[in-house]
Amino acid sequence: MIAFTLNGAPVETDAPGFAPLSDTLRERLGLTGTKVGCEAGDCGACTILLDGQQACACLVPTAQAEGAQVTTIEADDPLLARLRLAFLAHGAAQCGICSPGMIMAAAALLRRDPTPSRDAVADAIGGVLCRCTGYLKIIDAVMDAAPSLPTAPAAGEAVGASVTRLDGWAKVAGTDRFGADQAPADALWLRVVRSPHARARFTLGDLGAAARRLGLDRILSAADIPGRNAFGIMPNLKDQPALADGEVRFRGEAVLMLLGPRAAVEAVRDAELPIAWTPLPALHGVAAATAEGAPLLHAHAPGNVLVRGYLETGDVATGHAAGAASAEGRFRTAFVEHAYIEPEAGHALPLADGVEVFACTQAPYMDREETARVVGLPEDSVVIRPSACGGGFGGKLDVSIQPLLAVAARVTGRPVRIVYSRTESMASTTKRHPAELRARMSADAEGRFTSFELDGDFNTGAYASWGPTVANRVPVHASGPYRVPHVRNRTRAIYTNDTPAGAFRGFGVPQAAIATESLVDDLAEALGMDRWEIRRRNALGIGDVTPSGQVLHASAGLPQCLDALKPGWDAMAARVAAHNATATRHRLGAGIACMWYGCGNTSMSNPSRMRVVLARDGGLTLFNGAVDIGQGSTTVIGQICADALGLPLGAFRFVLGDTDRTHDAGKTSASRQTFVSGRAAYEAGRDLRRRILALANAGEDAALALDGARLTVRDRAGGERVIDLGALAEDLEGDGRYDPPTTGLDAKGQGIPYATYGFAAQIALVRVDTVLGTVKVEAIEAAQDVGRAVNPQMVLGQIHGGIAQGLGLALMEEFIPGRTENLHDYLIPTAGDVPPIRIHLVEDPEPEGPYGAKGVGEPALVPTAPAILGAIRHATGVTLRQVPVLPHRLWEAMRDR
Ligand code: FES
Ligand code: FES
Repeated sequence: MIAFTLNGAPVETDAPGFAPLSDTLRERLGLTGTKVGCEAGDCGACTILLDGQQACACLVPTAQAEGAQVTTIEADDPLLARLRLAFLAHGAAQCGICSPGMIMAAAALLRRDPTPSRDAVADAIGGVLCRCTGYLKIIDAVMDAAPSLPTAPAAGEAVGASVTRLDGWAKVAGTDRFGADQAPADALWLRVVRSPHARARFTLGDLGAAARRLGLDRILSAADIPGRNAFGIMPNLKDQPALADGEVRFRGEAVLMLLGPRAAVEAVRDAELPIAWTPLPALHGVAAATAEGAPLLHAHAPGNVLVRGYLETGDVATGHAAGAASAEGRFRTAFVEHAYIEPEAGHALPLADGVEVFACTQAPYMDREETARVVGLPEDSVVIRPSACGGGFGGKLDVSIQPLLAVAARVTGRPVRIVYSRTESMASTTKRHPAELRARMSADAEGRFTSFELDGDFNTGAYASWGPTVANRVPVHASGPYRVPHVRNRTRAIYTNDTPAGAFRGFGVPQAAIATESLVDDLAEALGMDRWEIRRRNALGIGDVTPSGQVLHASAGLPQCLDALKPGWDAMAARVAAHNATATRHRLGAGIACMWYGCGNTSMSNPSRMRVVLARDGGLTLFNGAVDIGQGSTTVIGQICADALGLPLGAFRFVLGDTDRTHDAGKTSASRQTFVSGRAAYEAGRDLRRRILALANAGEDAALALDGARLTVRDRAGGERVIDLGALAEDLEGDGRYDPPTTGLDAKGQGIPYATYGFAAQIALVRVDTVLGTVKVEAIEAAQDVGRAVNPQMVLGQIHGGIAQGLGLALMEEFIPGRTENLHDYLIPTAGDVPPIRIHLVEDPEPEGPYGAKGVGEPALVPTAPAILGAIRHATGVTLRQVPVLPHRLWEAMRDR
């Protein structure tokens, strides 16, 4: 037995001495507030205090805790209580998976330095990764000595208020239930055996004998899948097997499922399994996959071309001929990993006539459909209960563990649980599409754009996932948020033997923006124009027509965004000029970039439905099927519904994202939940309000008040009617549905692909070490048209987080299958990498949106990388056309210029 003091109380455990303390705390002592993101000391999610010192519990053998004082997020401690409150007050917890570790790291600092500087805080939390927040609000929270929460908004005042996250307390207390945080005690453990080859055929030996030899309950293969062994995003293209059937197409593809007691499952080495591999030559990258004579990876994709996208308006040759200047270039981006801090995890329960899956996800209804197909059940026999989601960013849109858990639970008749390792998560789940882009752009002598064309190949990896979405979204957006009369954009998604690429915050638009904004800078230089000026001159605004022929009737606030940035841009330019006049080694540079982004699916129905119920006992419940992956939709949708109904937000209870109890709100993707589900919640609130007013025979402007089961309706003239809800025959219910008005695109990409667009511009200041090739981003200023900031604090949090991810895209993130499948070799921004960020919120209301709101999540990321690249060019005179701009790439470019 190992004895230590845990949160002030003595404990003993019979855990193996070498077991990580994080595992002992979670699995043996039941304290799941300590999170695990990597088990390798890289993410800091498991940070605890060991004898008062910050430590990664995953690196501490349990035996080392003997006699020690161990403090976790669950401790009853005044400093932790203050930090929890401060994190809530500042919006410092988004998905919350990092919050316990952050709070513990901050506590260690504040115990030795109660009034630290911002730099000291950034240092102290530097070992704890957060993928959501961009760290600035975390630093604000740690520095707040006397935090307090804002007062709850009154009826009708929720929209526009920085309401504290409704689901926040559990996140900062460590009690939120992520996928790995709960499972039946008798659950079998599931481990997936994965392909070590990028392309191979294989045969299997006697799996039953192997299971007996290895002490496992079962080993399952493709032959054990009861339904159709195929999943995929596209309705007519289910090209990925849940378990490979004799052939694998990428390194990390699932082949077998091992089921049994945890120790037995974890002890199995892959070499002990009866798999005979025949490796085949693999196609890495689009050049190999499209080369003459390349083998076909899927019979339905001649030339390994999954899909093509196209948009054409005007005549680009005429447009180029009309230009006074032209610019062109080839650009290349890398695989980018989502790096959410929570690896995929969950469990499944067999039901008498179905199966229930508890797992992290961005799309419970889609999970249900995919899981039901694989497990061979009707959809209504599958229940998806989303766990708290420790970050997604698009990477948890595709199913991963869900069909595997469901099959294992159905076949064995036992509860089954799984927790992906960090390496497994990174090796097997989707990435941002690497892009190879060729683009050309022209402008007349006044700097007005005359023509734009782009050819883009996107490496979609072994399976389709969201490849078609990327290939279709990019042509619409590629010419940027500018008036361009002649446009021709062609894209292809190419199958390869690389990791499948899928959805990642922006669906290909961030890659295209790197090319477009670079060409805009080229044209400005060629014409002797200021880079802000050329963008302002061409900025799309209300009344303009997009390349798809859509008239922007409202909410096109890019001109206002650019105007908001103008003083900062001028000041930045002056600072750069003054510094560089004498600088030699460390040079400054300023960059600017713009973006637009269509909210919701491209030219496809993407409805949402919400239900709000005022029960006869006075309980007011919003049944909200939109999954909050940290961006705050639970709170924002609640704010919208509350004001639409006219009762205070504090009166609401919430039933969230459960396929048994909530309607389908669609996927949490494409910056659609505030806009689409928010509008559905608005309609539900209005519907319930109409019913109440009809019951009270009151006018539209009447005020509502709820006191237990007494609902008071007061009209402006002073008339009052009290409804005894308990006396009603049934609960009162409001139903709201919304599907954004879009049209299909014709063969030339003409139509209305989105009901509305977000717009943004950013400027960046960088410092380049011209000897080492390193880049430090010193400041970012952002302006974003959000239509209406329903919750300004959360909007700022989304912009901070998007900028941090854009910084990573620009400077450090490059996923290489087999080489960077951990958070040590794959680098994401830390607290020390994110600069001060100044934000201007532009609110150009969208008539379709709830209270004028539209999506904010993805737009924030798009301009960051091109703004940073422009700043590097300004500092060095070197134009980088490949991201990430790693030091050796910049150094070589400066050497070769
Ligand atoms: S889980 Fe311990 S550092 Fe990541
Ligand atoms: S809030 Fe930090 S990782 Fe999500």
